[in-house]
Amino acid sequence: KVGLKDFLHLDDFDKDTILKMLDRALEVKALLKSGDRSFRPFEGKTMAMIFTKPSMRTRVSFETGFTLLGGHAIYLGPDDIQMGKREETRDIARVLSRYNDIIMARVFAHKDILDLAKYATVPVINGLTDYNHPCQIMADALTMVEHIGRFEGTKVVYVGDGNNIVHSWLLMASVIPFHFVCACPKGFEPDAKTVEKARKAGISKIEITNDPKEAVKGADVVYSDVWASMGQKEEAEYRRQAFKGFQVNQNLMDLAGSKAFFMHCLPAERGVEVTDEVIEAPNSIVFPQAENRMHAQNAVMLHVLAK
Ligand code: CP
Ligand code: NVA
Repeated sequence: KVGLKDFLHLDDFDKDTILKMLDRALEVKALLKSGDRSFRPFEGKTMAMIFTKPSMRTRVSFETGFTLLGGHAIYLGPDDIQMGKREETRDIARVLSRYNDIIMARVFAHKDILDLAKYATVPVINGLTDYNHPCQIMADALTMVEHIGRFEGTKVVYVGDGNNIVHSWLLMASVIPFHFVCACPKGFEPDAKTVEKARKAGISKIEITNDPKEAVKGADVVYSDVWASMGQKEEAEYRRQAFKGFQVNQNLMDLAGSKAFFMHCLPAERGVEVTDEVIEAPNSIVFPQAENRMHAQNAVMLHVLAK
């Protein structure tokens, strides 16, 4: 089956494997935080990192994590490989597999990551596509374990566009039980097939609504992301109109209740999908969340390399 060696979608894994990766992330995080640099499982290994879109967190956290654990990561930006333009994806996959032990890629079309995985003989890690962003939601789950004490059984309310982040939340909900609510404007709902898949799995409570005020009540986490994702920036103005009422501001956080944390995958457009006040508040955990990208991904890389 395509994808078994890879990290492409959260529902490619069973609950036990996801939880083990999260435990491993905590364990290696503690080691790295203690200043110990003796754990070098990636010694002598190299990773190719393909980016057809911009990135700060994904690029720096993968490169830093792989280096800290003994390996060497190579950044390939949009102008280097020119995937699909200078060279076909299936050729890139086979050539890089002959040099590198892992391929990590951030691409536009989801089909590109599937093709990379299909033709690569080494593990491929999904660093975001137009469809999903599994590494982000692994980091988010890890952050919830640290701040709330658990991930299972919590209520996560995402407010905004039904985008790649939402699809990964839905696929996580197909494997681990929690209550996931997506509050988005009409016409910006997540992919219907993915919603159906998560509902059919029968693991989690899934709600898709157009009413953010009702949705956030009792949330453990209120989560937001940009209204115009990479590749949609020309729609930014139109989306600002369409998403009126979906800004996470202090009023919405007050409706959520006192136990609610604020999370955002970043980068954030302050004053658009979230106010300065909310992102800077004591219950905002966006920076520990960003830090955990590295620790969650370290565990993912250890998993795909069977270390
Ligand atoms: N959250 C996230 O993936 O950030 P970057 O786009 O900076 O990698
Ligand atoms: N939905 C955003 C996430 C960025 C990390 C995007 O795709 O641009």
